[in-house]
Amino acid sequence: MGQKMTDSVTLTIDGKTYTFPVIIGTEGEKAIDITRLRQETGFITFDPGFGNTGSCSSSITFMNGEKGVLRYRGIPIEQLAEKSTFVETAYLLINGHLPSLEELNRNRVMLNDSSLVHEDMHIFFQNFPKASHPMGILSSMVNALRSFYPELKDEDNITKDFLNLISKVRTMAAMSYRFSKGEKIVYPRHDLTYCENFLNMMFDSPVRPYVLDEDIVRALNVFLILHGDHEQNCSTAAVRVVGSGRVNLYAAISAGIAALWGPLHGGANQAVIEMLTDIHKNGVSIDEVIKKAKDKNDPFRLMGFGHRVYKTYDPRAKIMKKMCDKVLSKISGPDPLLDIAKQLEEVALTDPYFVDHNLYPNVDFYSGIVLRAIGIPTNMFTVMFAIGRLPGWISQWKESMEDPNWKISRPRQIYTGLSEHDYVELKDR
Ligand code: ACO
Repeated sequence: MGQKMTDSVTLTIDGKTYTFPVIIGTEGEKAIDITRLRQETGFITFDPGFGNTGSCSSSITFMNGEKGVLRYRGIPIEQLAEKSTFVETAYLLINGHLPSLEELNRNRVMLNDSSLVHEDMHIFFQNFPKASHPMGILSSMVNALRSFYPELKDEDNITKDFLNLISKVRTMAAMSYRFSKGEKIVYPRHDLTYCENFLNMMFDSPVRPYVLDEDIVRALNVFLILHGDHEQNCSTAAVRVVGSGRVNLYAAISAGIAALWGPLHGGANQAVIEMLTDIHKNGVSIDEVIKKAKDKNDPFRLMGFGHRVYKTYDPRAKIMKKMCDKVLSKISGPDPLLDIAKQLEEVALTDPYFVDHNLYPNVDFYSGIVLRAIGIPTNMFTVMFAIGRLPGWISQWKESMEDPNWKISRPRQIYTGLSEHDYVELKDR
């Protein structure tokens, strides 16, 4: 695992000293191993939000929040965004190495072969109320997949399960969009790549055939690559925690989708566009928005700003920002929302509140503008994030299943309720 014990730390409680080992990761990250803390001292640690807690060791993704570094399996995100495809990056995340040409081609065939969704599932899509959020539909449908495609057990077949999920989630996302518009679904095609197929399933129509544009296909690939994995974030932690009860893969991923839905997490890309639209429509000034975001008595936050780990510019946001200009020039021309976003960023980056709080744009600040330009409806933005994050969730789930130190997730608590007192009969209350 690339770990070695190099040191130990001591803790003194009521005059008694305890020694705990230190774990150092391959990039020099340090942790105090407190697995024996409660047993030896009777104390637990208290860390709401887990900002100081390592829940596992992992060889998938490295990020350095202070320096703005993100690498999948050691490869910088900038290189993957420039040179890789989503399908290749998914392989890298899940298998730990870049595929050979033969492995990549085999993957492509398997993805295409698993792209159809059981016809009996169509009825579910048709019967969700029209106003259902696509994330709720996706989470339910992924859970339902287990009933239609029971898990396969041996090594080769598990890879099929993974590809089945990656392929079908894309098909189901496009299907739910078509159903929501009351339009006929478009079936996946064997002659198209993963991203081309998605765009075609979303937008092709008998009256206006969808014409694939290689820059847009590239933009979608980059969007999905940037969302591929992000170590132990809220939804990935959910996948691992739920998976730790040894639930099936589909149920664990469904939990990840539910966690991602929240506006403080994956739902932020939708929230950013809603915020920018609101500012645009109501003619709110940039200064007013910044003032509101800084007001402690106002729950409003500048959506797309801030991150638990990044205390500098999110490297994914840099790539996404560049892509905005390119995609907009290609498709729809200037977007007033992009102008507002750039102005907000300029003001926030020099405002003492944002500087002191280390608040910089995160990936979601510009991603919605790219998705909007591609034609993706706002309420599907978080679904796009989920399609991108799927290989990350799968690789993290797989790693946790193979972890020799695996334990069911079961945090402790500090109880602050009433102390013991007697039950009072109903007649005496
Ligand atoms: N606007 C204004 N103030 C903010 C913002 C923001 N976007 N984000 C954090 N702050 C302030 C908080 O008010 C707090 O101030 P205080 O210490 O003076 O009370 C301080 O910065 C720290 O904030 P926390 O919420 O404690 O930071 P945490 O690490 O728990 O939260 C989070 C990170 C949830 C991302 C937060 O920055 C946020 O709500 N951002 C907006 C939503 C968003 O863009 N989410 C997407 C994250 S990226 C992703 O999931 C893909």
